[in-house]
Formats: sequence, structure tokens, C-alpha cells
Amino acid sequence: MNAQDVKRAAVIGGGTMGNGIAQVLAMCGVETRLYDIQQDFVDRGIAKVRANLDKGVEKGKVEAAARDAAMERLSGTTELDVAIDEVQVVIEAIPEKMELKAALFGELGSKLGADVLLATNTSSLPVTEIANVTVHPERVVGMHFFNPVHIMKLVEVVRGNGSSDEAVATTVELAKRMGKEPITVVDSPGFASSRLGIAIGLEAMRMVEGEVASAEDIDKAMTLGYGFPMGPLKLTDLVGLDVRLSIAEYLQTEFGERFAPPEILREKVARGELGKKSGQGFYDWKA
Ligand code: NAI
Repeated sequence: MNAQDVKRAAVIGGGTMGNGIAQVLAMCGVETRLYDIQQDFVDRGIAKVRANLDKGVEKGKVEAAARDAAMERLSGTTELDVAIDEVQVVIEAIPEKMELKAALFGELGSKLGADVLLATNTSSLPVTEIANVTVHPERVVGMHFFNPVHIMKLVEVVRGNGSSDEAVATTVELAKRMGKEPITVVDSPGFASSRLGIAIGLEAMRMVEGEVASAEDIDKAMTLGYGFPMGPLKLTDLVGLDVRLSIAEYLQTEFGERFAPPEILREKVARGELGKKSGQGFYDWKA
């Protein structure tokens, strides 16, 4: 299938990522159905898209007519059969739990023809394992977007062990059609982005622990010396120390000691210093 042939798509899960993905799909001309388990989650997702696009119009970044056309193309439902009726693509953005994703992909596989592309936005789970529960696992790929979806350019296209070349190629082209910059990664723990991002983040924490420099100065080394848009410690504060700890623990089980979480990270999480959301992380956010 050619990405230009994608006329209708379903996005499963209307939370942080799902509503962003639905917005970008609708903006690039795809009739998009947003599915969630409760009507108020669907409504909230659609309202978020509307608010984002209104803000875009206010700032002069989105034409009012383009917003209106995208909103026309976007609909919401709590009925899976309605969401996936005659779609060419399904993008899943439900919580990061294997049992939920496996149940969904099992159902999608039994309901949809082999030509329908099934993409998961998982940030860490093995795409191959998700694919293997479905009929025709060759049409399953990872399509890892970044938050906020309408702004962040990167999409990691993850090739599961059984993904077909055609499924990967269509996903790459679809990501481009959505205005994104795709990279292709094999199904390996942490893909490219999390594995490298966490490695740098953990080393920066060990440097704070070893009193090499202050958090501010370590971050400055990377922003001014290496052109990072944000230092690894500030980024950790924004993502959440608890989130980064659980990814590090997972990567440690896969890659061994080089991903062992530093003591300072464990201690901060135990004290409830989770970063910006709790007011304290490597930085003080209370002010
Ligand atoms: P979220 O919690 O904001 O949204 C998940 C949505 O899925 C909720 O609206 C929930 O009601 C719905 N849901 C739960 N079970 C469902 C089911 N069986 N069928 C349909 N909908 C269901 O989660 P978020 O942050 O959007 O994450 C979704 C996925 O995207 C996860 O796999 C996550 O790892 C991944 N991801 C998250 C990023 C982030 O920054 N939040 C970044 C990149 C990937």
C-alpha cells in the first residue's frame, strides 16, 4: 500500500499521544476516527485537538480553513467496529501494558484484512511480541511518536522481526505525509531514542553523584558544548525521574550493568523528588 492511498485511519486511545496523532492525521487529509473506552475520554481527546488547532490559528501557524477541514475529518467513537470500518491504517496509543496491547492486537487481527497496517506507538515494549498475537504479524510495525505530537518531528519506525518491507516502507511514507522525519530502527530495547537518551541521562546523574559539577553546569556542557536543546538533567526533570527510573531498570534487564540506575536516582524517587511535576528533581521547580 502506498501512504497516499491512506484515506481512513483509526487511532486507538485518545490520551496524550492518541489525540496528538489523530490531530496530525486529520491535518494531512486522512479521515480519522478516535476510539477510546469511555465517551468522556473521546470527547476530551477531540476537545484537545480543537484547542491545539485553535491555538495554532491564533498564532498564525494554522489556517482557519485547514483547522475546520481537519475537524470535519475527525470523529470519535467508543465502538471499535465503527472506528475500524474500512480503514487502511490503525495506530494504537493505549497504556504501556503488554496485556492491554496484546488483547487489542488480537482483536484487530481477527477483524481486519491482511492489507490493513497496524502500528503501535509503544515507547518500549517489543513490537515483535505485540505482532505475534495478531493474524498476519507482517503488517505490524512500531510507530513511535514524541510528545507533543503536533510539534515533535521525530517518528521512530520500528521493524518487528516479522514486519514486512512493505509495512515498514508504508509507515515511513505515512510519517512523512504527516510532516514527520522518520528513522528506521530494528526492534531492540529502548529503540534508538530511549536507549541513547537514557544512557546520557544516567551518566549525567553519576556525574552529579560524583560531584564533578553542578546539575546546571553539566547541562550547560551539553547545551553549549554539544548543541543539545536541553541538558540531560533538566530533561529528566521534565520527563519525570520515576519514568526514567523504570526505563533504566528495564534496559538494565536487557543490556546489563551499564544501564544500572545510579543511587541518586533511586533516592530521589524514594523521596518523591520526581522532577517538575513534584516541584523538585535535579532542579528546584517550586519557584
Ligand atoms: P494516556 O494514559 O494519556 O492515554 C491512554 C488512553 O488509552 C486513555 O485515554 C485510555 O482511556 C485509553 N485506553 C485504555 N485502555 C484502552 C483500550 N483497551 N482501548 C482503547 N483505549 C484505551 O497514555 P499516553 O501517554 O498517550 O501513552 C499511550 C502510549 O504511547 C503508551 O504506549 C506510551 O508508552 C506511548 N508513548 C507515550 C509518550 C508520552 O510522552 N506520554 C511518548 C511516546 C510514546
